[in-house]
Amino acid sequence: MAEFTLPANSKIKAKGRTHKAPAGAKRVKAFRIYRYDPDSGENPRYDNFEVDLDECGPMVLDALIKIKSEQDPTLTFRRSCREGICGSCSMNMGGRNGLACTTAIEDLKGEVRITPLPHMDVIKDLVPDFTHFYAQYASIEPWLKTATPDPSGKERLQSPEDRAKLDGLYECILCACCSTSCPSYWWNSDKFLGPAILLQAYRWLADSRDEMTGERLDQLEDPFRLYRCHTIMNCANVCPKGLNPAKAIAETKKLLVERAV
Ligand code: SF4
Ligand code: F3S
Ligand code: FES
Repeated sequence: MAEFTLPANSKIKAKGRTHKAPAGAKRVKAFRIYRYDPDSGENPRYDNFEVDLDECGPMVLDALIKIKSEQDPTLTFRRSCREGICGSCSMNMGGRNGLACTTAIEDLKGEVRITPLPHMDVIKDLVPDFTHFYAQYASIEPWLKTATPDPSGKERLQSPEDRAKLDGLYECILCACCSTSCPSYWWNSDKFLGPAILLQAYRWLADSRDEMTGERLDQLEDPFRLYRCHTIMNCANVCPKGLNPAKAIAETKKLLVERAV
């Protein structure tokens, strides 16, 4: 896959700083990390860090934590679970979006360039601004919506077969790796919902207990919100959870065609 472009506000003119590995380190890995601090008034820059892999865990997040602990405490990035569950540590590593906690250093050849997710505004260093992404998520009303009282008076049951229709959808951790790898989303993210949010939208369309399918489809039937997907497929190639947003988008388009005929 082609390398993604740098974040929208990255004008890399400033000279970076270099942090060497300790003397005697035998397995040294070089990282080139995007740095930006809006409070400093300085332009973004790349800093170079050398890490002794014999003293470091196997994942990119291990290297970032080691760099922050031992070389530069101002390096800023998000992380929480360290297990590919929370979605916090999404970033671009070696030209590909992924989760730093599940990306093995040994799978990245040569010097590893690390930047924030492409085409998002940057708050600081590797931390992108998710405000718009979350507003788009809220816009699809991602909760069970019903019109009738639940039949049992207690809960809405679902057959195992209907529950299985949510597999491949409910696992999404909203990391935005897919949306920020989609060229259509790069250019139209003000109006196109992007693959992550469209996969979430289909998750509710596919739920047998939800009774607002028509209204949900009305909201999506728009030249930009849904139809700016041009089947580029970067989303399915990059998802760290192995999900296929392109398929969910195709299923949504199918539902719209079916109700039109
Ligand atoms: Fe992340 Fe995959 Fe969900 Fe996209 S579909 S937000 S890449 S988990
Ligand atoms: Fe984008 Fe995926 Fe469609 S990369 S254009 S959302 S198939
Ligand atoms: Fe939670 Fe990486 S720290 S997904």
